Amino acid sequence: MLSLKDVTLGYGKTPVLHMGTLEIPQGGQFLISGASGSGKTTLLYAVAGILPVISGSIAINGTDITKLSETNRDHFRGKNIGIIYQTLHLVRSLSVIDNLMLAFFASGAKQDRGRALHMLHRLGIEDKKDALPEQLSQGQAQRVAIARAVLQKPPLILADEPTSSLDDKSCGKVIEIIMRTAKENGSSLLIATHDQRLTPYFANVMYFEEAP
Ligand SMILES: Nc1ncnc2c1ncn2[C@@H]1O[C@H](COP(=O)(O)OP(=O)(O)OP(=O)(O)O)[C@@H](O)[C@H]1O
Ligand SMILES: [Mg+2]
Repeated sequence: MLSLKDVTLGYGKTPVLHMGTLEIPQGGQFLISGASGSGKTTLLYAVAGILPVISGSIAINGTDITKLSETNRDHFRGKNIGIIYQTLHLVRSLSVIDNLMLAFFASGAKQDRGRALHMLHRLGIEDKKDALPEQLSQGQAQRVAIARAVLQKPPLILADEPTSSLDDKSCGKVIEIIMRTAKENGSSLLIATHDQRLTPYFANVMYFEEAP
């Protein structure tokens, strides 16, 4: 479902990363591991269509997103990709449930409050639905970000350092929740992290070398 070919990524004209090929089947779960500055976030942002490629192709379910206009890429992302950002990107002035409802609104989908409450229940934070993000622990806020990313059962879920600020117990719980939810929805999963604790959970791990 995800197919990268001869992709060069960077900022401006300065290349940071080159990848020959990467293929992830529908429902596949991949981990990108590697040192700080090795390009993990850069790759994730390119797959999300947030960072334009310097060259190469990135196909998601047969659509080469590098060929889409910026507007169409944004639209495609809204329909097909759920993103769990490192800095969670929750709206501070909105309650937990309203942050989830906003996600429906942002992608143009019908607002399904029942589904949002179900996800909060599944993640064990239903009692926090009316709380503001600042009233949550780091682990609880992380779960809200997960709920938001998987809400609309996107074909592809991307996560950037979803566990690096969590203690060992929350780390285990959070990664299990992400993997299980992705599996239940049939979503493919691509996680970028330098958190060594995640490696044992994945059969498919790609290591990025430290930048020279
Ligand atoms: N907006 C930017 N403009 C210019 N260079 C950038 C930008 N963002 C990242 N870089 C550079 O690209 C390289 C890869 O950065 P990236 O954030 O992808 O690393 P990472 O593997 O995610 O690191 P970390 O584990 O610290 O999150 C680094 O050398 C970084 O300095
Ligand atoms: Mg990073």
